[in-house]
Amino acid sequence: MEERRVTNAEQAGMAHGRMGWLEADPLKFFSGAAERNKEDIVAVLLKYLGALESGLVLELGSGSGQHVQRFAQALPRIQFQPTEFAGHPSPRAEKQEVARILGSIAAYCAGSANVMPPQEQDATVLAASALVADEAVDAMVSINIIHVSPPAVLQGILAGAGAKLKPGGLLVLYGPFQRDGVITGEGNQRFQVMLQELDASFGIRDITEVKAQAAPFGLSLLEEIHIESSNNYINVFHKGQAGSGSL
Ligand SMILES: C[S@@+](CC[C@H](N)C(=O)[O-])C[C@H]1O[C@@H](n2cnc3c(N)ncnc32)[C@H](O)[C@@H]1O
Repeated sequence: MEERRVTNAEQAGMAHGRMGWLEADPLKFFSGAAERNKEDIVAVLLKYLGALESGLVLELGSGSGQHVQRFAQALPRIQFQPTEFAGHPSPRAEKQEVARILGSIAAYCAGSANVMPPQEQDATVLAASALVADEAVDAMVSINIIHVSPPAVLQGILAGAGAKLKPGGLLVLYGPFQRDGVITGEGNQRFQVMLQELDASFGIRDITEVKAQAAPFGLSLLEEIHIESSNNYINVFHKGQAGSGSL
């Protein structure tokens, strides 16, 4: 039987609707979900980073580039480092066309002086990566990644945040979450079934477990924002000051 191949873009698209390469501008990928959620996320970045005179934000799995373009526009004194993953999130997914995706990020950010050239980065090895220095990053952003990738990706993001965030830095995780084993909303319940059919290691993560996994890296949950329109969350983790362990 022929193996069914699913691209990363299709994986996200199944949950969130319209996405694809723009006919009018074929260098750019377009994600309807990114277009819808970017204002909620930028509001959180503005709340926490808006007063900084300078800073560095690292985005994992940047996707099309729509998010980082908007973030950089809203926070012109902050430098942004977008990244993308070159591997296979699932054995059933095609190898990502990473060069084309990095090209899309660059195309969205052409003219954004505070966006660095997008780089390849696998979140699972971020803690040991030379992409950014240890304790140099003010905030790390992961949007709609940890449920469409194996648990090692979440673990890598948390370890990476532990290594790369400055004391007092923030990790922003956007996406659907469950709590104590309960997924609320029919849409997310259906999404969970679909994710696990796609790959048994994928799935909506439990915020209680994420908090427990984050603690050894000095990360504690600072704010949990529920976005009613999408039933997603913006979970803001804070890396404790050296020696304090938490806030
Ligand atoms: C649903 S897409 C979200 C893309 C983008 N953040 C957005 O919200 O439009 C899932 C993303 O997870 C990324 N991803 C999967 N495994 C990864 C890994 N090991 N390291 C970094 N990113 C990964 C994919 O490359 C893809 O960009």
